[in-house]
Amino acid sequence: MRPRPWRTVALAVLAVVAVLAVGGAATGLWTELSTGEQARFQGLTEVVPWDEAITVPSFAPRPTPTPTFDLAQHSTSDPTSPWVIVNKQRPIAEGYEPPDLVDVSGAFVRTAVQADLAAMVGAAQAAGAQLVVGSGYRSYAEQASARGAIEARRGFAHAERYSARPGFSEHQTGLAVDIESGSDPGCSFQTCFARTVEGVWLAEHAGEFGFVVRYTEQNTGVTGYAPEGWHLRWVGRELTAHLREKGIGSLEEAFGVPGGPAYPDG
Ligand code: DAL
Ligand code: ZN
Repeated sequence: MRPRPWRTVALAVLAVVAVLAVGGAATGLWTELSTGEQARFQGLTEVVPWDEAITVPSFAPRPTPTPTFDLAQHSTSDPTSPWVIVNKQRPIAEGYEPPDLVDVSGAFVRTAVQADLAAMVGAAQAAGAQLVVGSGYRSYAEQASARGAIEARRGFAHAERYSARPGFSEHQTGLAVDIESGSDPGCSFQTCFARTVEGVWLAEHAGEFGFVVRYTEQNTGVTGYAPEGWHLRWVGRELTAHLREKGIGSLEEAFGVPGGPAYPDG
């Protein structure tokens, strides 16, 4: 084959350029090391295995946080609050009138109560229980008159157990209703209401619509009233679900506020 000196020279030049390029890049840091450092690093041949060199933390699945129910989201002392607590220790101002009363089946309640009350009456009807909405909002003056009538008929001690003094009734909030029995009207406003179809249905289902049976056999000591299976207090479905889940039997216990049979002035 004919000698081609130019080809040999070109290949040699290319080889030198390649060595310089690769070696230069790879040894950039190397050349910056002192001779002593180069000597030390040259002795390092051991390769640390990946799984020993890096500690990979093991991630346990995070436990799902238990949602804590916020009992402070509404006031228990503001009369306009859905969670206001009115009892013998916690009066409501004489002049307070709910700002948004509406008529539901002949009784006045606050607008927030309207849909749940109507839904409850409808669901009960479908289940064969005829809830008759007897009374809702009562002004201070109307409560004074109702209390006076009971006291005149049954005496002071009885009235204390079944009827709030004016200024101490939940009815003044517009968030309470009394339900009468359609199946057994004679038991309306009587202890036997709890045994009527309506009373039994309410004890089981009122909470599903945001109402509590406010005065029960179990909470008499806390509320200061005899059981009234007909007296419902609307607090909203969120709170009734919480009460049911935790097995809490009164608003006083739920919020840790005082109650009981005694009025502040005796
Ligand atoms: N019957 C209830 C206690 C009221 O008078 O408000
Ligand atoms: Zn009532």
